[in-house]
Amino acid sequence: MSKTILVTGGAGGICSEICRGLAADGLNVVVADFAKEAAAKVAAEINANKGNAIAVQVDVGDPNSVAAMMEQAVAKYSQVDYVFCGAGVMDRMPIVEMPEEMWDRLMRINLKGVFLCAQAAARHMIPRSEGRILSIASGRGVAGQARSAHYAASKAGVIAFTKSLAMELAPNNITVNCVCPGATDTPMSRIGLSPDQFKKREEIPPLMDGLTHKFEIVGLVRYLLSDASKYITGQTYFLRTAK
Ligand SMILES: NC(=O)c1ccc[n+]([C@@H]2O[C@H](COP(=O)([O-])OP(=O)(O)OC[C@H]3O[C@@H](n4cnc5c(N)ncnc54)[C@H](O)[C@@H]3O)[C@@H](O)[C@H]2O)c1
Repeated sequence: MSKTILVTGGAGGICSEICRGLAADGLNVVVADFAKEAAAKVAAEINANKGNAIAVQVDVGDPNSVAAMMEQAVAKYSQVDYVFCGAGVMDRMPIVEMPEEMWDRLMRINLKGVFLCAQAAARHMIPRSEGRILSIASGRGVAGQARSAHYAASKAGVIAFTKSLAMELAPNNITVNCVCPGATDTPMSRIGLSPDQFKKREEIPPLMDGLTHKFEIVGLVRYLLSDASKYITGQTYFLRTAK
């Protein structure tokens, strides 16, 4: 029987590639995103290419919405083997001008959203003593980011959360790991920057062409879902992160 992965933020730049890549490997894919039509489009594209996907609308910051997402996934595919917490947002704002609402909104999606989705995943996986949970953080969560302090703090939180959950769920044979793409060309990473400013971002390393390609992220995710990594847990992987 095919395994099933649920990907939050599955309609976005990076996570839609994860959905497409894993569907091509034969996994059933639940494309979960707040952007309902965009998620439906990704699922339709996968199904048109002989894959198997459904789209589910979710707000990862809302526990009822997350519970409903898991219910829909289980109703369709009986079980969810892997959960990838990819939904995230970013803004750029000097700290002295940052409204409290901006801080709260981002933390609700980037950090609380990972907590709620990983919690729902753990509740589903513990009775089967099997499963893998992955999330996306960022090199910014270690190095910091001027004018995006809330973003960097949320991603640092995801890294610490990953390690903690890995320790807690190891006895249940559930691994928990974290993927940190370097600067990747998606609508999010261009927010608040001109094309020239985007090219000159200090965090883009002078390595080959600098930017992380989405296929590199998909390759890492494949590895973290494979038998080769079944004893790897609590780890954070950085792709092309300069500092
Ligand atoms: N692009 C980069 O350079 C980069 C680098 C490191 C980490 N990341 C992380 O990768 C992830 C994906 O980023 P991306 O660049 O593909 O951005 P993106 O904006 O293309 O995708 C983000 C997706 O999350 C969805 N989303 C937003 N709020 C949501 C909510 N409340 N509930 C459910 N879905 C919601 C959006 O609709 C969107 O489809 C993010 O967590 C981001 O922080 C990105």
